[in-house]
Amino acid sequence: MKIDAILTPAELPALAKRDLSETLCVVFDVLRATSTFVTALHNGAKAVIPVGEISEALAFKNSEFGIRNSESVLLGGERDGVKIRAAQTGGIDFDLGNSPRECTPEKVRGRTIVSTTTNGTRALRACAAAKTVLAGSFLNLAATAEFIEELQPVEVLLVCAGTREENADEDVLAAGALCELLARGDARPTFPDSTEIARRAWAQAKPDLAAAVRNATNARRLLAIPELRDDVVFCLQRDVFPLIARMEADGAIRRKPT
Ligand code: MLT
Repeated sequence: MKIDAILTPAELPALAKRDLSETLCVVFDVLRATSTFVTALHNGAKAVIPVGEISEALAFKNSEFGIRNSESVLLGGERDGVKIRAAQTGGIDFDLGNSPRECTPEKVRGRTIVSTTTNGTRALRACAAAKTVLAGSFLNLAATAEFIEELQPVEVLLVCAGTREENADEDVLAAGALCELLARGDARPTFPDSTEIARRAWAQAKPDLAAAVRNATNARRLLAIPELRDDVVFCLQRDVFPLIARMEADGAIRRKPT
């Protein structure tokens, strides 16, 4: 199994030209999009539909499906880390932000969440042509690794969503941690340099992950917002939601039955 990695969002546009027909992509936006989606699915959301733009989320809500299911479709996401408000949409407040702690069973059970975030949902969409697309996080890392080991894809591509245009430490660390799990079961995995960087970063950060992530750009931003600061420690929990979050052909991420 070849394990490749994309460490910055600047590399995402090149995916459109890459043959992903035999590739399994794992998208990491640890702070916070993929952690939030995994939490929502754990707490009973039917599906999460990642879209790039606010206008696409609104169009989904106003589609025939959205109108027919208006009670069960929730608008979610963030800009600058905070919930999208009426002033940004021409009059509609979004139902949810991008905090995993907001995705309680009471709020999300049986609901379809259409979400737009700065990096995470765009990274997921950029992988849409891949054979398999998974939403990865520390919250479901071991389950994700087990699924990949069972599937034995020709190529695994670890996609770090990043922060705006830049690299995000926490995503690279999660990619390195998944790599460590996958390497255990494969005597001869092939690692290009980008994967090797993620592996080394993880090996260094692993003894105190919280301390390593605390200085990352996105963590500093969230830690400075009192109502969002607890999201950082929440998203660094390891394997508390043992589920596989898979983006299906219709673009919706669903919990894969295990
Ligand atoms: C993103 O998609 O860029 C992030 O999840 C931002 C955030 O922390 O909400």
